[in-house]
Amino acid sequence: MRNLRESEAGFLMHSSQPKHHPIGIFDSGVGGLSVYQAIRHALPDEDLLYIADSRHAPYGERSTEFIITRAIALTEFLISRGAKAVVVACNTATVIAVNILRQRFEIPIIALEPAIKPAVAHTQSGAVGVLATRRTLESPSVARLCRDYAADARVMLQPCPGFVEHVELGDIDSPATLDLVARHLAPLLQSGVDTLVLGCTHYVYLRTAIQQVAGGNVLVLDSSEAVARQVARRIGTTLPLGAQPRQARETFFTTAQSTHQATHQVSAVMSRLLGREVRVEFAEV
Ligand code: DGL
Repeated sequence: MRNLRESEAGFLMHSSQPKHHPIGIFDSGVGGLSVYQAIRHALPDEDLLYIADSRHAPYGERSTEFIITRAIALTEFLISRGAKAVVVACNTATVIAVNILRQRFEIPIIALEPAIKPAVAHTQSGAVGVLATRRTLESPSVARLCRDYAADARVMLQPCPGFVEHVELGDIDSPATLDLVARHLAPLLQSGVDTLVLGCTHYVYLRTAIQQVAGGNVLVLDSSEAVARQVARRIGTTLPLGAQPRQARETFFTTAQSTHQATHQVSAVMSRLLGREVRVEFAEV
């Protein structure tokens, strides 16, 4: 009798979770779309929700308390919209808030870390550069990655103030952006770095500019495909061989002020970065 009730409860719980509950993804702004794209590519059948905390971007110089409060609020919002898992598509929010999110929420919380391990495995010159926000570079997580994987390499940590702001404006290739990229990369290139790690999801959209400045002999790595693989392992649905993916739903939100203009601007930038027209809704979070 007891077993029956348990299995009934199990069945009811299972059936109240429709197969196509979405995966929620958040970032301080539009940068996490680079993770969104990798997940969409790896899991074409999954419904996805994305929220950009545009009103509060960038997070890079914000206080710990502020970033934790925002990470909790955004996760709660995604769960209220039915998310069965949440991806923290922001290195800065990850190093500061991921443990708290995992303690607080029962659904899988998937996060990313700078690709220091593969960078060290690849370098020939023994010098690796990590580009990220100051909060990420100063975190115990990055110190641990360097200690565990980079004992034999010289790892140069380079904060890049201004990168996030340029990407938030959709300005990924203007002369001013290239100039800023050149200034931040100069000390690394002078030190013989042959591998660069993009430790901020926004910087993925500056990859072309970074590669142009660094030259073809420098390998530029990011973590978005690794996160997408992790999401697939944890919660992804696998399509039967040869099956056509269903028309998966996607919904984009921004916390930018609700005036038509602000939401419209975020829509324009997201559309530019994704290379197709998307409509973005305002969310009061
Ligand atoms: N995309 C965020 C990251 O990966 C940007 C942080 C910020 O807003 O400063 O770190």
